[in-house]
Amino acid sequence: MLAQEIIRAKRDGQVLSEAQIQSFVRGLVDGSWSEAQIAALAMAVFQRGMGRDECVQLTQAMMRSGRSMSWPDMPGPVLDKHSSGGVGDKVSLMLAPLVAACGGYVPMISGRGLGHTGGTRDKFDAIPGYNCTPSPEQLSRVVREAGCAVIGQTGDLAPADGRLYAIRDVTATVENVQLITASILSKKLAAGLQGLVMDVKCGNGAFADSLQMAEDLARSIVEVANGAGLPTRALITDMNQVLGREVGNALEMDEAIRYLSGHGPREARLHEVTLALGSEMLLLGGLAEDEAEARRRLQQALDSGAAAERFARMVAGLGGPADLLERPAHYLAAAPVRRPVPALRSGVVSAMRTRDIGLAVVELGGGRRQASDSIDARVGFSGMCGLGDAVQAGEALAWVHASDATAAERAVAQLQAACCISDAPLPFTTGDVVLARLS
Ligand code: URA
Repeated sequence: MLAQEIIRAKRDGQVLSEAQIQSFVRGLVDGSWSEAQIAALAMAVFQRGMGRDECVQLTQAMMRSGRSMSWPDMPGPVLDKHSSGGVGDKVSLMLAPLVAACGGYVPMISGRGLGHTGGTRDKFDAIPGYNCTPSPEQLSRVVREAGCAVIGQTGDLAPADGRLYAIRDVTATVENVQLITASILSKKLAAGLQGLVMDVKCGNGAFADSLQMAEDLARSIVEVANGAGLPTRALITDMNQVLGREVGNALEMDEAIRYLSGHGPREARLHEVTLALGSEMLLLGGLAEDEAEARRRLQQALDSGAAAERFARMVAGLGGPADLLERPAHYLAAAPVRRPVPALRSGVVSAMRTRDIGLAVVELGGGRRQASDSIDARVGFSGMCGLGDAVQAGEALAWVHASDATAAERAVAQLQAACCISDAPLPFTTGDVVLARLS
């Protein structure tokens, strides 16, 4: 089957047959489709869309493109959470050990940054020695002993998605419901889970920038996953501002460590998203009777230090420093240049162009312009202001962390342009971070 004929069919708005989809996925893995052909088909799907049947067939073909995991004899439910991607979204870093401390087992296969969004895998790469690609034996041992292991996508797990994901990242073909559904679920189905909670981000820092698209994506994922036998629920959560106070790989790791260790206040929206997703995971795994009990258990796991202890065990089990939580500054590399981003006027932070903030981090070197780029884990923004914060002219909206002064100056201007300051207080409450639930 000729690649160009399959591309032509989708370009002209036809429904692809199962054989055509399988031929595409084979071509992704065996190299018989060139990058140009893959990008062209991704763009045709982006423009023309796919029906539910095509999406299911693409998901299943990508899932079967590699190995499938299984977790026999785990003493508790095997659960995971996945985010559709946001800016400052470090929830997975805290959620995996939190759920582990409550009796779940979380083998979390995480992705690299995509487009303007950060990737959990890149955040763990900021820890010296941490092995994001362990052998199946090491992964299984760490999940059993620590209750969680956050790792990267290995070459043998849904490898078709690995290649497609990297090409979509650099060809503006990410924001499509069917491609995102197939990408996420091919990996999650291959991971042998018993339950999945999706965090579908919605807003100007998400791939779904409207509630309508977020609902379409959430529904697509929930229906395709449940149809494939993986019990799945979804929350739609707000991404019209950075989540938490830090953006950038090492900075977000540091914020997650402070959150788990109880050093300093936990940012309210970040805490709410973490507890809301964690509750869904405990309910899905039968680890709590109702939401109130789930939240109580999660809070207790945080307050007692049990979640921090699971995190430390996971890091050490995967080759990272055993005392990372005691001495994060010793291990997480710091950028050489650190500058405040002064507010250009006094008033209230009334809107953020969140995608632009993610792109500013990419430009600082914290994300990729090309699939083969390496990442500077040190760069980003810390101490980010939030919507509704009152600021005085000259006061810091955030701090930029950069590899040199020129990059820092550019990022200062980008953040100033991305944060709108107005006279009037905000007409809405910024606490409404969970927008909808689907199961
Ligand atoms: N996360 C994924 O794994 N894939 C996508 O396409 C988007 C977010």
